[in-house]
Amino acid sequence: MHSRRKIETLASAVHQFCNWWDVQVRSVLDVGAGVGYWSDWYRNSHPSTKIVSVDVSEHACKKYGHERRDISSWTPKRKFDLVICQSVLQYLDDQAARSAIKNLAGATKNVLFFEVPTKNDLRHNVDRKVTDFEIYSRSGLWYRHELNKYFKQAGAGLWVIKSSNIVLYELEGNAK
Ligand SMILES: C[S@@+](CC[C@H](N)C(=O)[O-])C[C@H]1O[C@@H](n2cnc3c(N)ncnc32)[C@H](O)[C@@H]1O
Repeated sequence: MHSRRKIETLASAVHQFCNWWDVQVRSVLDVGAGVGYWSDWYRNSHPSTKIVSVDVSEHACKKYGHERRDISSWTPKRKFDLVICQSVLQYLDDQAARSAIKNLAGATKNVLFFEVPTKNDLRHNVDRKVTDFEIYSRSGLWYRHELNKYFKQAGAGLWVIKSSNIVLYELEGNAK
C-alpha cells in the first residue's frame, strides 16, 4: 500500500506517458481501487476525465464510492483510455487471475498500468513489515505469459493493448 503522495506522483507520470503517446486520457477505470487515491487524483487534477472505480469489497465500495465488481467475472461493457490495476491480482487464484487479465484487456482502449508483487518481489523486494502474505505468489513469467496475450510491455508498469495505435520504438518497450 502506497501513500497518497506516492500515488499522486505515479498517477501524474502515467498520465503524462499517455500524453507522450498522444493518448488523451478521457476515461479511466481503476480496478480494485481500495482507498481511491487514483480516482481522487483524477477528479482533482483532470475533472473532465470520466473515472470509474470498482472494487470487490462491499466495505471499500460504501466508504470510497466505488462500483462493486469482481474483475475475475465482470466484463466491462465499454473501453477506457487508461485502466489501472495496482496490487490486486495477488488476491486471486490462477484461474481467477487469468480471467481478470482477460477482462482488463477487454476494458483497455490504450494503456494498462499494472502492478503485482511476484514470487521474486516477495522474496527480495517488498517490505515484509507492511506486506500482506495471505496472497497467491506467482512468477513474473506467469504474469508476462498472460499479459503478453493482449498487451505489449512498455515498462514501468505500463502495458499497451495490441489493438491500440500507439507505436513503441523498439527500445522503448520489451521486444516480446
Ligand atoms: C492491496 S489493495 C490495493 C488498493 C489500490 N489498488 C492501491 O494500490 O492502493 C487490493 C484491493 O483489491 C480489491 N480486490 C481484491 N480482489 C478483487 C477482485 N476480484 N475484483 C476487484 N477488486 C478486488 C480489494 O478489495 C482491495 O481493495
